[in-house]
Amino acid sequence: MDPYEKLKADIIKSIALPEAALETPPQITGADLALPCFSLAKKFKKPPAAIARELAEKAKPRGLISRIEATGPYLNFFADWESLGNLLLNEILAKKEGFGSGKMKEKIMVEFAHPNTHKAFHIGHIRNIALGESLSRLLEKSGYKVVRTNYQGDIGPHVAKCLWGLLHLGKTPPAKDKGIWLGEIYAEANQKISDNPKREEEVREINKKLYAGDPSLRKLWKQTRKWSLDYFESVYKDFGSKFDRLYFESEVEAPGIKLAKTLLNKGVAKKSEGAIVMDLKKWDLGVYVLLTQDQTPLYSVKDFVLASLQDKEFHPSRIIHVVGTEQILHFRQLFKSLELTNPVVAKKENHLPYELVNLKSGKISSREGRVITYDSMKKEILAHAIKETKKHSPNAPAKTAESVALGGIKYDMIKQSPEKTIMFDWEQALSFEGNAAPYLQYTHARACSILRKAKPGKCDARHLKEEKELLLMRKLLTFPGTVQAAARDLRPHYIANYAYQLASLFNDFYQAIPVIGSPQEKARLALVQAVQLTLGNSLKILGITAPEKM
Ligand code: ARG
Repeated sequence: MDPYEKLKADIIKSIALPEAALETPPQITGADLALPCFSLAKKFKKPPAAIARELAEKAKPRGLISRIEATGPYLNFFADWESLGNLLLNEILAKKEGFGSGKMKEKIMVEFAHPNTHKAFHIGHIRNIALGESLSRLLEKSGYKVVRTNYQGDIGPHVAKCLWGLLHLGKTPPAKDKGIWLGEIYAEANQKISDNPKREEEVREINKKLYAGDPSLRKLWKQTRKWSLDYFESVYKDFGSKFDRLYFESEVEAPGIKLAKTLLNKGVAKKSEGAIVMDLKKWDLGVYVLLTQDQTPLYSVKDFVLASLQDKEFHPSRIIHVVGTEQILHFRQLFKSLELTNPVVAKKENHLPYELVNLKSGKISSREGRVITYDSMKKEILAHAIKETKKHSPNAPAKTAESVALGGIKYDMIKQSPEKTIMFDWEQALSFEGNAAPYLQYTHARACSILRKAKPGKCDARHLKEEKELLLMRKLLTFPGTVQAAARDLRPHYIANYAYQLASLFNDFYQAIPVIGSPQEKARLALVQAVQLTLGNSLKILGITAPEKM
């Protein structure tokens, strides 16, 4: 049994209450867990402080509990750290990467990344993929079977604009990195087209011909689509993502037209000025247009088809779409429409929204042409990372700088809750001292280097009596619960915060307390190893490499 769960179970037995909403008390109390008695006041018809006092008097500390005390309206529990420490450290050292793993059984689909072909992979996609991949790993850690999917726009006006650029800008593709080049062509074409009615008309013409199956345009489309996809594949590698299925808008388009008509015939959808729409006004969700007047299937109806396809192909019990906040209304409309037509699938659907990434120069949008591409960002960060890594560890192997650069980007994208806008700043992201990946990686490598000097023996927590040791053990104890909470709330940033706190406590410990050569060496080494494993475990969930040497 997870030591934390065992501790809680022993508390429940000690106070003979069937269940108790336990909390982590403030550090100053010195207690390990606390029970606030406010919510019991109603049941016992007494003031909370009186309840706490009585519970403390009647309690019989057992198992891992050594002492129970009332402080005002709180009941504080003190663990017997000799037993708990041994239980905890032995559990971590025995389970290694398995410490904190859950037993959930369901299959969950996480749909993320979503770059559109014929366009750049930009900084917004980076937040998406970092969040989606860490969420997938977090759910896997909890035991779920995760299916990773990715839904890409490979057709539509943006593609037509890019093809226009290929036909009119007179540029030749480079020998390599064609996918990156294609994004540049799109951006340039977009600039040249906007506010130019003649060119806009040319683009509409291309779009129409492409739909109609014009052979030479289709050939160009297929070839260039592959350039994008090949490049995206290399980006996925940087993020450790492997998709089980790539979905494309082009494959759900024809079925979308059919579906819109079926829904119309069934009377679920209706005609409005030549278009086919879902009237969702009753639910304050406006009108959801499925098919335009000229029979073009919109994003809406394509997602409709996608939902059944995803369900049919993988039978997940939940589907989580990681997509920006600007699509909140779209997903509300979609889920409501599904509820009316396919309630079984509707129940499985979730949208995990996230906010924008800003640089000092302002909002990022690939349509405005001021887009920060992943390619340019990675190059810049890597150059900084090489310098920073040299400063801190002159002998670091070359690939360390790459781990630091990629880790720095990912961690900065994950550490904030998804609903907060990120202000990306490379200096902060590459910090070896602050709340950033290099700091965590460096701390992990430091623990590894201690463990290279001597091996931990049989752990005896009687020798871990220092306050800083206790604080570290308390933090380790909460790792499994943090994983559970993060998976429940779909919030990988809980793990990021946890990793930072653990690393900070470890550095406090390490600076103040000698390990090698101290009389408590064996026990302290066990603690160091438990921290190294748990920090490594956390970084793995975040998709960040944890070098052993730096
Ligand atoms: N490709 C879309 C976009 O650029 C995102 C796809 C999101 N997923 C979905 N099922 N709609 O906006």
